[in-house]
Parts: sequence; structure tokens; C-alpha cells
Amino acid sequence: MHLPPCPALPMTYLIRPMTPQDLPACLELWCDTEGVVLREESDSPEALTRFLARNPGLSFVAMDQGAMVGSILCGHDGRRAQLYHLAVRSEQRRTRCATALLEAALQALAAEGITRCNAYIRVRNLAARGFWSSAGATLRRDIDVMTLAVGTRPAGRSGIS
Ligand SMILES: CC(C)(COP(=O)(O)OP(=O)(O)OC[C@H]1O[C@@H](n2cnc3c(N)ncnc32)[C@H](O)[C@@H]1OP(=O)(O)O)[C@@H](O)C(=O)NCCC(=O)NCCS
Repeated sequence: MHLPPCPALPMTYLIRPMTPQDLPACLELWCDTEGVVLREESDSPEALTRFLARNPGLSFVAMDQGAMVGSILCGHDGRRAQLYHLAVRSEQRRTRCATALLEAALQALAAEGITRCNAYIRVRNLAARGFWSSAGATLRRDIDVMTLAVGTRPAGRSGIS
């Protein structure tokens, strides 16, 4: 799928679904990108391969002359979608690369009947906030996200005897 970034901008990226073969280049991009937080358990090649298999055709990469310059990871649980690791190489920023990646993910989600997605951004990540705002996203001020590790709770805390 070719999605031109914007008629007025010179850059055109090849936007295509992410495959497991893309993961080494994705991890290199994410390691190089400020604002992308990697977690050992969920960003190992094995975990990412599982994520792609559970969510086929929803994550995308942007290619420029054979090089990966952007990515978006997307998955859903049948109710809501989550977007992770939206990243664009610094040289390609402000050329609508992230916009094209997001559009591809949103089209794929719409085709699966998913009507809402969430992105998690660091509180001080103003670039990400600017991007998501310009994409029409709403900053939720009415909820806090609470996170809990699975499988590592101390014995006796579950309430199940
Ligand atoms: C956030 C990021 C993905 C945006 O990628 P991008 O390809 O430059 O974004 P686009 O060119 O599609 O930008 C579209 C619009 O978003 C807004 N925007 C993008 N970057 C912005 C910034 N740094 N500050 C404020 N607004 C910004 C602008 O309105 C822009 O339109 P304009 O260029 O005509 O003003 C990129 O800066 C990046 O990779 N940052 C580091 C990783 C990161 O923080 N990812 C987000 C994790 S949720």
C-alpha cells in the first residue's frame, strides 16, 4: 500500500504491514528513538512475533528506498485497540510519515470493526502529544492507568485459598 504523506510534501513512503522479519530493524529503530520505551518481557523478538501473530495485518512499517524509517505496533482485544512504538527516524520527521502509519493502522482497525484506540505517551513527551493532538486524539484527564505484573504476585495476596 502506498500512502503519500501529503500532496504538498515531497516524501512518499511505502507503508506495508510489519512482518516478523522486520523485527530486527524495528528494534534498531526503537532503540535509537527517544520516547519509545522497550520492556524486556514484551519487546523480545519472541514476544513481538507472538504479538504480530495475534494481530495480523494491524502493525505497519514505513520504508524509504529500502530502509525502514518508521513503525507502528497495533493490536486489539475485540473491544479496544492499543497503539505502541510509533516512531519515525529523526531525518524523516514532519513529513507526514507518522500520519501515514497511523492512517494505515486506523484503516486496518476499521476493517475489523474496532471503533476506538488508545496510545500511551510519557507525560513530558511533547512531540508525541503534539502529534496525537493534531491527529484528533483526546487527552484523557479523567483516568489513571494502573498496571500490574502477571504471575509474580506474592503468595497469599490473591484472596484465593
Ligand atoms: C511523534 C512522531 C512519531 C511524529 O512523527 P512525524 O512523522 O514527524 O509526524 P507527522 O509528520 O505525521 O506530523 C503530523 C502533525 O503532527 C504534529 N506534530 C508532529 N511532530 C510534532 C512535534 N514534535 N511537536 C508538535 N507537533 C508535532 C504536527 O501538527 C504535524 O503537522 P505539521 O508538520 O504540518 O505541523 C515522531 O516525532 C517520533 O518518532 N518521536 C519519537 C518517538 C515518540 O515519541 N513516539 C510516540 C510514542 S506514543
